[in-house]
Amino acid sequence: MRWQIPLNKPYFGSQEKQAVMSVLESGELGGNGLVSIGLETYLQDLLDVRHVLLTTSCTHAMEMAMMALDIGPGDEVIMPSFTFVTSATAVVRQGARPVFADIDEQTLNLDPEVVDGCITERSKAIMPVHYAGQGCDMERILAVARDKGLYVIEDAAHGVGARYDERYLGTIGDAGCYSFHITKHVTCGEGGALLTNDDQLARRCEIIREKGTNRSQFLRGEVDKYTWVDVGSSFVLSDLLAAVLLEQFKKLDEILEKRRLIWEHYQEGLKELEDRGMIILPCLSPKAQSSWHVYPIRTALETNARVIGELKKKGIGAAFHFVPLHYSPYAREHLGYEEGDLPVTERVGRTLIRLPIYPVLTQREQEYVIQCLYDAFDEE
Ligand SMILES: Cc1ncc(COP(=O)(O)O)c(C=O)c1O
Repeated sequence: MRWQIPLNKPYFGSQEKQAVMSVLESGELGGNGLVSIGLETYLQDLLDVRHVLLTTSCTHAMEMAMMALDIGPGDEVIMPSFTFVTSATAVVRQGARPVFADIDEQTLNLDPEVVDGCITERSKAIMPVHYAGQGCDMERILAVARDKGLYVIEDAAHGVGARYDERYLGTIGDAGCYSFHITKHVTCGEGGALLTNDDQLARRCEIIREKGTNRSQFLRGEVDKYTWVDVGSSFVLSDLLAAVLLEQFKKLDEILEKRRLIWEHYQEGLKELEDRGMIILPCLSPKAQSSWHVYPIRTALETNARVIGELKKKGIGAAFHFVPLHYSPYAREHLGYEEGDLPVTERVGRTLIRLPIYPVLTQREQEYVIQCLYDAFDEE
């Protein structure tokens, strides 16, 4: 038998199909319609947050946050280098500068002490990225931010449904950004959301999201026609995709529970490889209730490429993750960084391997992944 085990797989069923069909039949496919507004209200209750604004992607939610907070030329935003490129492009497109801080080697999240050391008089915001769905140390990050008067914009792309100290990721800082991209555990193909408890920020975002107009106010019957009132773009999610998302959120507990079981089974199954000094298992901090978005192991004695190659030969879609941003061609040329600047990030980038994790991964498939990993090290 030829195994084909991808890195991730969406968890769709007949409910999503039905939801798409009913929106198609209604003809109401535009954004900011009844389905989207219904979903936003549902999420506000679920996540205990005052405002949820659906967007076309997490990238757009981050860009919207930067625009709404007037982050601009001369400003600095502190973030990890071990993140997706658009955490940084959202800052750069405003004419501001991303400042890359090193991460904690245990949690792979921003190290609050390092963040503190990155603050200058130009700092305007901190962007913690909740890697793999595990919350950053928000207590200390918020303390640093409040002390210095900085905004906190959470990149919670991986953290849908995850909590830190009982609060949902994305609802703790000034703004939080979710991703519903096809690779995420709650998905509609492409999509995102901005979450905030700040009424003024939400009001500005709903204008930016609607092309700089007050169309949202018009839809609520607060004005009799809509017009251009602020800077803006086009970040509204179609109701067709919102319908898929609502069905996904109804299954959130089930999705998270299935992922948790797989995550924990990897921890048990791979323990011996860690005891033999070959790999480093992921580590959870006690206050973080994860979304189990990524299962990241690290090779202890070598770079990750050979092992990923061995797994690929056996039909397993294991993968490395972020190529650190600070030594990307863009950051070297435009921001003056170079290899060697962030040693923990670089080590993690070279050694991390993501293993398949998704609700329909069977126990037999998971045993096979575990066995192939042992074989990859035994062959050395
Ligand atoms: C940490 C992080 N932030 C942001 C994004 C961007 O999400 P989207 O594709 O929804 O724009 C991703 C996507 O993988 C991500 O991993």
